[in-house]
Amino acid sequence: MHKNGPVARSPIGAAPGKRPGLRGCFMLLLGASMLCASAMAAAASGAKPANGQAKEAAPSDYVGTDTCATCHAEVAKGFAGNPHNKIAEMHGKAGVTCEGCHGPGRAHVEGGGDVSKIFDPAKATPKQVDEKCLDCHAGTHPNFERSPHAKAGVSCTSCHSIHASQESAQLLKASQPALCYQCHTDVKPSFDMPFHHKVNEGLVKCGDCHDVHGTFGNSSLKSTADQNLICTKCHAETRGPFVYEHAAVKAEGCMGCHTPHGSQNARLLNMPNINTLCNQCHSPVAAGTVHSMNAGSSELAPCTSCHTYIHGSNMNQAFLR
Ligand code: HEC
Ligand code: HEC
Ligand code: HEC
Ligand code: HEC
Ligand code: HEC
Ligand code: HEC
Ligand code: HEC
Ligand code: HEC
Ligand code: HEC
Ligand code: HEC
Repeated sequence: MHKNGPVARSPIGAAPGKRPGLRGCFMLLLGASMLCASAMAAAASGAKPANGQAKEAAPSDYVGTDTCATCHAEVAKGFAGNPHNKIAEMHGKAGVTCEGCHGPGRAHVEGGGDVSKIFDPAKATPKQVDEKCLDCHAGTHPNFERSPHAKAGVSCTSCHSIHASQESAQLLKASQPALCYQCHTDVKPSFDMPFHHKVNEGLVKCGDCHDVHGTFGNSSLKSTADQNLICTKCHAETRGPFVYEHAAVKAEGCMGCHTPHGSQNARLLNMPNINTLCNQCHSPVAAGTVHSMNAGSSELAPCTSCHTYIHGSNMNQAFLR
């Protein structure tokens, strides 16, 4: 849960992320077909998760989608609009769509549908499922295996459904934020607070700030060189660079003064009173000379009634304009 009390003094996210280069089958689509053989071998190795003695699959172990369709007509029909139909285009149009995930199917077919001879993700462990999906998706989601989700056994198919997606975009089991609230009941109340990012209203998504597939930052926050970029991509006016920067914005990050999800305080501030917020760092100033010219004003008026450009200014060192 988010703390509304004392300021959480951490710039959002710690180390700027550095993403490993793209790997995996998306590259294959671009023609690096050598790697494909290994992806297929890996795909094959998932075929027998139970005994773990996967043998290398030969091309003749694959039967192709049309054969699967003879017995699984419903599933095959439903697959027409699936983005995974693109697998067929891989390997010089010799890609095997169903078997890309289910492993080579000849033994299953020759056994008349022997369920012990086909990889069924629904019966596999989360780790086995993730490995299978990452055969092709490691390039876009290289950090998944070290993410809090993977570590907690939340697998690709906890959020995605290949054959029965309720949500056309990204094969999600449910749309955001309902999908997330299924498990993150503790986070939900903050988005019902008087001031909140309009996630429930559909204006902002959890995925705008988080990458649930894992990042190098805390709380799976999206990795950007400057962590404030997560916020400033939408709040460009706070981004700068300014001639006169407010050191707090750069050093503490946006979370030095704001709460990201929701708050009892206007402007998502993490303190109920602006002056108290400022005086955490500027207490000597409140009693200082410049502010006593208008006796008491600094106590009564919010600091930002004068220091309007609190995120930085190009005109005035004290952010007055
Ligand atoms: C000769 C008919 C036939 C063909 C061809 C066939 N299957 Fe099956 N498949 C079956 C039968 C029968 C079952 C068991 C259905 C059940 O128990 O409801 C089954 C079950 C499955 C299951 C679920 C396994 C489980 O653990 O319950 C998967 C996954 C599957 N098939 C995938 C495929 C794929 C991929 C192909 C193509 C490579 C394919 N099948 C081709 C007949 C076939
Ligand atoms: C991108 C990976 C992927 C591809 C491609 C794929 N499947 Fe599946 N399949 C899954 C997963 C994951 C499950 C487990 C249930 C789920 O999560 O939807 C599954 C389950 C099944 C089942 C068992 C149904 C059940 O209710 O448990 C059958 C049968 C099946 N797939 C057949 C096929 C056929 C036929 C094709 C090709 C037209 C195909 N699959 C392509 C991932 C895939
Ligand atoms: C906790 C839920 C969750 C888990 C676990 C999860 N995803 Fe996702 N995935 C999402 C959401 C939500 C999106 C939509 C993009 C966004 O908002 O971040 C998405 C988008 C995607 C996309 C399309 C967009 C993109 O970023 O490339 C792919 C591909 C994908 N996921 C694959 C996977 C694979 C593979 C795994 C397992 C290794 C996985 N996902 C695990 C929730 C999840
Ligand atoms: C054999 C390779 C392969 C495997 C294995 C595979 N995928 Fe994919 N996946 C693809 C391709 C190709 C696309 C289409 C990419 C595109 O549209 O550019 C795709 C697209 C997706 C998308 C994005 C859909 C969208 O609307 O953008 C999601 C989500 C996804 N896969 C999840 C999974 C999950 C979950 C698994 C494991 C159950 C899995 N994939 C296994 C190759 C694969
Ligand atoms: C505007 C950006 C933003 C949006 C939108 C957002 N988050 Fe967060 N979230 C953050 C930041 C920043 C933190 C880290 C807070 C901290 O370190 O004090 C965080 C922390 C978290 C945490 C870990 C700490 C905690 O509060 O339990 C979870 C879980 C979480 N968010 C889930 C979600 C879910 C679920 C959604 C959508 C319903 C969501 N977030 C939407 C920015 C966002
Ligand atoms: C199937 C249950 C499940 C779903 C669905 C789910 N999560 Fe999670 N999430 C977890 C678990 C379990 C953890 C790890 C334990 C924890 O930190 O609470 C976690 C961790 C996280 C964290 C890291 C929290 C931290 O303290 O580092 C964030 C952020 C997060 N989830 C966001 C999301 C978002 C956004 C969605 C929706 C797209 C989502 N989750 C969907 C179960 C789920
Ligand atoms: C996807 C775009 C998006 C991202 C990312 C985002 N915001 Fe917002 N933010 C909004 C929108 C839209 C509003 C609502 C504006 C309104 O209601 O007029 C808002 C409102 C706010 C407000 C209250 C403004 C007011 O006038 O009351 C603050 C403060 C704020 N965001 C800070 C942040 C911080 C800090 C982050 C990073 C953790 C962040 N935002 C990330 C879109 C975003
Ligand atoms: C030093 C404390 C502090 C930091 C750090 C800070 N803000 Fe603010 N922010 C405020 C105060 C105070 C207000 C309210 C101003 C007012 O009431 O006029 C505010 C207001 C806002 C608003 C509402 C619109 C506006 O400009 O008045 C947005 C959006 C916002 N901040 C985003 C951000 C983002 C994004 C970051 C990080 C780049 C950030 N803030 C960093 C103190 C801060
Ligand atoms: C997290 C600590 C922190 C918070 C909270 C904070 N500031 Fe600052 N502020 C600083 C630092 C550090 C400097 C740079 C001081 C310096 O250069 O001597 C600074 C500089 C300033 C300056 C310019 C000082 C100069 O010498 O020109 C003004 C004006 C200012 N802050 C006003 C505010 C106001 C108003 C608030 C409340 C909305 C606020 N600050 C909240 C840390 C903070
Ligand atoms: C009535 C308007 C007004 C209010 C309210 C106000 N200030 Fe100022 N502040 C000023 C002026 C004017 C300056 C001097 C600017 C200059 O010298 O160019 C100043 C300067 C500063 C400086 C620069 C350092 C210094 O002492 O010269 C800081 C820091 C500062 N104010 C913080 C605050 C804080 C914190 C609050 C709220 C507790 C606050 N101010 C309330 C008008 C105000």
